[in-house]
Amino acid sequence: PVNQRQYLINGEMRQWDGEVEEVISPLRIQTDEGLKPFTVGHFPLLTEQESLDALNAATMAYNLGQGEWPTMSVSQRIEHVQDFAYRMKEKRAEVVKLLMWEIGKSYQDSQKEFDRTVRYIEDTIDALKDLDRVSSRFELSEGVIGQIRRAPIGIVLCMGPSNYPLNETFTLLIPALIMGNTTIMKLPRPGVLPCTPLLEAFQKAFPPGVINTVYGSGRVVTPPLMAAGDISALAFIGSSRAANSLEKQHPKLNRLRTVYGLEAKNPAIVLPDADLDLTVRECILGTLSYNGQRCTALKILFVHRQITDTFLEKLSNAIAQLHIGMPWDDEVMITPLPEAGKSEYFTALLDDANHHGAEVINPGGGTVNATFFYPAVVYPVTAAMRLYSEEQFGPVIPVVPYDDIETPIDYIVNSNYGQQVSIFGQDADTIASLIDPLVNQVCRVNLNSQCQRGPDTFPFTGRKDSAEGTLSVSDALRAFSIRTLVAAKEK
Ligand code: G3H
Repeated sequence: PVNQRQYLINGEMRQWDGEVEEVISPLRIQTDEGLKPFTVGHFPLLTEQESLDALNAATMAYNLGQGEWPTMSVSQRIEHVQDFAYRMKEKRAEVVKLLMWEIGKSYQDSQKEFDRTVRYIEDTIDALKDLDRVSSRFELSEGVIGQIRRAPIGIVLCMGPSNYPLNETFTLLIPALIMGNTTIMKLPRPGVLPCTPLLEAFQKAFPPGVINTVYGSGRVVTPPLMAAGDISALAFIGSSRAANSLEKQHPKLNRLRTVYGLEAKNPAIVLPDADLDLTVRECILGTLSYNGQRCTALKILFVHRQITDTFLEKLSNAIAQLHIGMPWDDEVMITPLPEAGKSEYFTALLDDANHHGAEVINPGGGTVNATFFYPAVVYPVTAAMRLYSEEQFGPVIPVVPYDDIETPIDYIVNSNYGQQVSIFGQDADTIASLIDPLVNQVCRVNLNSQCQRGPDTFPFTGRKDSAEGTLSVSDALRAFSIRTLVAAKEK
């Protein structure tokens, strides 16, 4: 187990001797008394005082003079980030293990999360070199010579989500850092431990105060950070409700820039001529990868009534073939859920759907035991059911039969969310006629493929209550910076 009592403030690795919280794995290991849960480790329950220390350190580091982090040359900052990436790679095995143990992500996906994060850092460095070439320049206009610079915003509070505690925290943190901001990182729960092996790398690679970490209950450590009003940007990935509540804690004396990745209810539209084997394969990946706990997951399937019977049969058969087990098992798809209370929530959604006339149609669907929730296909889902509009974030698959293409289109237009859509079909003209109207309602239209975030060099964002700002490689550099000007009159 990770017995973590350390946290990083102002370049100093502090030792915590106060209260700690135990992290129990959602997984089970074989013991003499049968399968048992196990302790992954502990993390410090810091108080308001340590939060304020972190804020103070980030503020001091931001206000330092010439040549320090915020005013350092781009190439020097890149060297620090490269140094961090180098040190990070040495910790791969430990981080991957902790991802698997704490959030139940499969070994293969945990490895992917780590490698994708390293790649994100490398791509960010390349993108910054390009951006610097176009952003920092001299310009003469109307007798004024201007030196245009891309400058940091100030102090950025970075808070990633439980489903990608390493990768998505870093998609906020790394661009914020490399643009010269100073940062405070608050890790999610579950997902608090995988970054622990990287604390020393942060300490060694960055100057004091540039990155500070706070641990503990969000209710205790976050309000003091926000209430002080010194945070210039809040970078948060998680629920819309949490984002709203965080924003309200900021007095806005300083304007607050927000960069958010929030909720989504991405639909698939399955047209009558869709290749159903391909569609089912993609829908399984889209709805059930990491148990459906992805903001980009397909969360409702609109299937043309002519093909629902065949589609549902193929989907149920494919689910019956999925491997359910522990994250270290080969080819595992369904793993234990990391958050307490989730099975009860999914069961309540199924009860509600059942009450309004839908059924779980795959054998064993929705069954719960101490460790697993078995994926449930629910049919026919209607607007009266919670599953129609609520983001389930889990292995429950609502299927809506439709006769007229206006049904899924109206759904997307009237949804509170606007992240992505997948269209499955073979007639190019029909698909082409849907793209333009849909791309103006969501931010990514996927053709004959599931919804997903990557490749990370492509834009990733959402409309309405799904996002604010763009989180992908080069867009994030813009989100965490501002264009400034030094101007002089021409002689
Ligand atoms: O939870 C939201 C993530 O951004 C999903 O990313 O599509 O790569 O799994 P992904």
